[in-house]
Amino acid sequence: MFLVTGATGNVGRHVVDQLLAAGEAVRALTRDPEGARLPAEAEVVAGDLTRPETVEPALKGVFALFLFPSPGTAGPIVQAAKERGVRRVVMLSSSAVEYDTEGADNAIVAYHKEIEHEIEQSGLEWTFVRPCGFAVNTLQWAPQIRAGDVVRGPYAEAEMALIHERDIADVATRVLLTDGHGGAKYVLTGPESLTQAEQVRRIGEAIGRPVRYEELPPDVAREQMIQNQIPAEFVDMSLTFQAELVGVPTEISPRVEELTGRPARTFDQWAADHVADFR
Ligand SMILES: NC(=O)c1ccc[n+]([C@@H]2O[C@H](COP(=O)([O-])OP(=O)(O)OC[C@H]3O[C@@H](n4cnc5c(N)ncnc54)[C@H](OP(=O)(O)O)[C@@H]3O)[C@@H](O)[C@H]2O)c1
Repeated sequence: MFLVTGATGNVGRHVVDQLLAAGEAVRALTRDPEGARLPAEAEVVAGDLTRPETVEPALKGVFALFLFPSPGTAGPIVQAAKERGVRRVVMLSSSAVEYDTEGADNAIVAYHKEIEHEIEQSGLEWTFVRPCGFAVNTLQWAPQIRAGDVVRGPYAEAEMALIHERDIADVATRVLLTDGHGGAKYVLTGPESLTQAEQVRRIGEAIGRPVRYEELPPDVAREQMIQNQIPAEFVDMSLTFQAELVGVPTEISPRVEELTGRPARTFDQWAADHVADFR
């Protein structure tokens, strides 16, 4: 039995599907089993990662756990997993933990590091999957693209090697299913580093009409994000992060290909898979 947390998320849904396709028994954890829309073959159970006592029953009979990172409660969850005989945990972490400099004040980096630390102490066989920025993050532009042909935002030349959520799930599933990955920290990227302006242009190609990126001064972008109810702390983290990526190509990781036996999906493939989201 495999327990997948974050099972209704971008990555978790594909992990559920792939484990089922491999013929495995899957238990899928969600806070809302009624609305989860998970495959009938999966055993869908209610649980909230912020309340470890609600997750504990789902650990019974589980061999390996796919852990969505929920700040503050990973310690009790992995301890309970160990006590119930779970052997392996694969955590959805972030490549941000790799590049963070000592003492940097970034809440996202801090909680991923804390959860990794809890898992390292757990006595379980662990593997950290550390993806870079998800291609699905570009869905933030979908309302602007549906409404016109311009995406307005900061730092047009900020570069990222955005990764397809299916590639993250492919790697996670492989690691859940096979031996030899204990103690590994796998940084995952897409196959090419692209500026935000180029990402928008390629989404336009996928949907069959030109779309361009129009750069906003950072202070104007900040004001708009805050008006859109994005918390100021997150806005500032995001802008600082993007500023650091201007003119800096992302180093491409070979891990997706090494672990899955085929190249990481391109951003063009991702956009083609998500055309309906932009129309
Ligand atoms: N986006 C990026 O660029 C990026 C980059 C690197 C790493 N990451 C990591 O990847 C994560 C996002 O993964 P994703 O896109 O697959 O997630 P997602 O689509 O945001 O979905 C997360 C799922 O987790 C479940 N969940 C959230 N809080 C929960 C809780 N308290 N208890 C139980 N379930 C809970 C939710 O399911 P229910 O509502 O059904 O309970 C939700 O569907 C980030 O949080 C970060 O750790 C992201």
